[in-house]
Amino acid sequence: MAVATAKKPGSGEPDRKHNIEAMREAFYARIAEHSMAPLWKVMSTLVPDEPVTRCMPAVWHFDDVKSLVMEAGGLITAEEAKRRVLILKNPALQGESRITNTLFAGIQMIMPGEVAPAHRHVSSAIRFVLDGQGAYTAVEGEKAFMSPGDFVITANWAPHDHGNPSDKPMLWLDVLDAPTVNFFETSFGEDFGEPVQPTRRQDGDSLSFYGSGVLPDGTPAMNRTPVINYTYARTRPIIQRMMQTGDIDKRHGARVHYANPINGGPVLPTMGAYLAMLPKGFRGEPYRSTDGTVFVCAEGQGTTTVDGQALEWGPNDVFVVPPWKRYSHTAAKQSVLFSISDRPAQEALGIWREGK
Ligand SMILES: [Fe+2]
Repeated sequence: MAVATAKKPGSGEPDRKHNIEAMREAFYARIAEHSMAPLWKVMSTLVPDEPVTRCMPAVWHFDDVKSLVMEAGGLITAEEAKRRVLILKNPALQGESRITNTLFAGIQMIMPGEVAPAHRHVSSAIRFVLDGQGAYTAVEGEKAFMSPGDFVITANWAPHDHGNPSDKPMLWLDVLDAPTVNFFETSFGEDFGEPVQPTRRQDGDSLSFYGSGVLPDGTPAMNRTPVINYTYARTRPIIQRMMQTGDIDKRHGARVHYANPINGGPVLPTMGAYLAMLPKGFRGEPYRSTDGTVFVCAEGQGTTTVDGQALEWGPNDVFVVPPWKRYSHTAAKQSVLFSISDRPAQEALGIWREGK
């Protein structure tokens, strides 16, 4: 394409600045036809001075969530839906099934007598139990009966199904690394063939075998935990004792991370989780990190201020803090917060950072 030569008004001289801009634009248009582009036009987007997130802080209050999930229970069975889950979509990521850029979150409900059929997939999943008593998740041959506050692991390619022999609906938070797996375009999944997988272990076997300071002989090295259910009954007393002994982090409270007992690492290579107790009146110091984090209030009441925005929370409320947004917790009552993020994946890649 010919480029017109501009002249300085009144001088008769060519306007070099205007001319070079026009030449550049013409060049960009020409290289676009070859599927090429100039890096210098997008450098600041590609390599920003600090992390930029598309996500925004948000909170889902359990009263609203429960009534909507119960309504879904009247519209579709667990068997029809395969998984009766209402997705928690980050409000800034409409149309995308994700709560952060890397994590999926949803609220699942299973009615008395229902079965959610067995399947498996490459995406790893966790469940944090919110409401109900006595439904189970069967994973790798262990039928884990669930209670509020339990943290249940379904690792990469582990067959899993759910059933509810109790007389009450059960609700839990599902978090999956599906957006991460899909980023790599590596997702596989399949139905198990039978609605319910055969079980050969008793409830609690994996926690007893691997989470008690001993390991069965011949336990192989694993980059994810073999424990199926980290029960609230086991974990809560630990953070209570930490709080009583004064082991309280100024930002996070009395906090433990759920560990893989084989190597002390996170429970999954892609996701890591914590349980923290905040004493009544706790005023946490500001904190930020590059892992966008999903929180659940297991007990208590408080406020988390994210980038100046106050998120009020109470029992079973779910809230999300985007990456690198400064936040601090305050607790009006003694509170317990569960949290989960992609920190292990970031640490494995050497890109995780934290700050004040
Ligand atoms: Fe699943």
